[in-house]
Amino acid sequence: MTVSSAPGKVYLFGEHAVVYGEPAVPCAVERRATVSVSLRDDDHVRVRAEDLSLNGFTVEYSGSTGGRPDVDVPAPLVEAAMGYIDAAVEQARDAAGVPDAGFDISVESDIPLGAGLGSSAAVVVAGIDAATRELGVELSPREIADRAYQAEYEVQDGQASRADTFCSAMGGAVRVEGDDCRTIDAPALPFVIGFDGGAGDTGALVSGVRELRERYDFAADTVSTIGDIVRRGEELLADADPDEEPTEELLSELGGFMNFNHGLLEALGVSSRSLDSMVWAAREAGAHGAKLTGAGGGGCIVALDPTPESQTGLRFTPGCEDAFRAELAIEGVRVEEPPATDGDEPTTDGDDTLVGDST
Ligand code: MEV
Repeated sequence: MTVSSAPGKVYLFGEHAVVYGEPAVPCAVERRATVSVSLRDDDHVRVRAEDLSLNGFTVEYSGSTGGRPDVDVPAPLVEAAMGYIDAAVEQARDAAGVPDAGFDISVESDIPLGAGLGSSAAVVVAGIDAATRELGVELSPREIADRAYQAEYEVQDGQASRADTFCSAMGGAVRVEGDDCRTIDAPALPFVIGFDGGAGDTGALVSGVRELRERYDFAADTVSTIGDIVRRGEELLADADPDEEPTEELLSELGGFMNFNHGLLEALGVSSRSLDSMVWAAREAGAHGAKLTGAGGGGCIVALDPTPESQTGLRFTPGCEDAFRAELAIEGVRVEEPPATDGDEPTTDGDDTLVGDST
């Protein structure tokens, strides 16, 4: 058995605009997806996924598609998660030149599904790493990032940037502009995350921005203004000492840019009432800045606050289901120790059987 994990991420700046070639700066955070893979002696793929949302659920799934598990999570989210796993399996088979390799796969994640923290990218990155290693092939994190991007691109019908997958594979803070992906130095920023318990439909949200951008010059200008904010934010990071605590001045300037970025995302129609109220709760509690993170529509906001105040404020905010601090994850994809026993192995047999088990 091979076990790999990869981190989720928050966008300091630049989601959505990155789809149109503007730069973005996502930062990996210490919430990880862990994927365990064992090679089978046939060509079947069986997946067991636990805790794919903070609410908690377990689904046992066998075969590639074809049924609906009875779980306490919207079926499209579960199907999307399984689509990503299928795409990761295809990438691993292709990388190793073993098109009919079969696997038992188990996924555990503490990243809420579809909530803007890069859950799918982390599952795909960790899945490709574990499955290729299980087939005796070791890819570099950049190669994993590239293959994970191909997988996301396919599942999201061509509406994906390289940002989520590159960040998850490499770890730390990264800068993505089209195909140009690099890691950048950044101090340990004091991220606080608020989660409304929901999720957005990334495909629909990206399509909505695309339509607005095509229809109105001012929407296209809004997208390129987000790019301007990212470039100014990057200059601030480049001038900061990555080994020192961030100064109040840096946090205040970055926070101001985050607020501006959130306003523009709101104008592009990808915020929601709960995201806006969490953003305002964090600001009113004294955060230097706050914005939605990821595709929007629901899910998470990220605030910059070294004090406990934003987290406390968020916990008392109607519509906020959870609030937590997230450290910058320095490490991207990595190999983990396999569990001591394999008592957690999938137990179902046969193709196309789905067994759901709510917790
Ligand atoms: C989704 O996490 C981020 C978006 O910019 C889409 C993408 O970059 O693929 C909305």
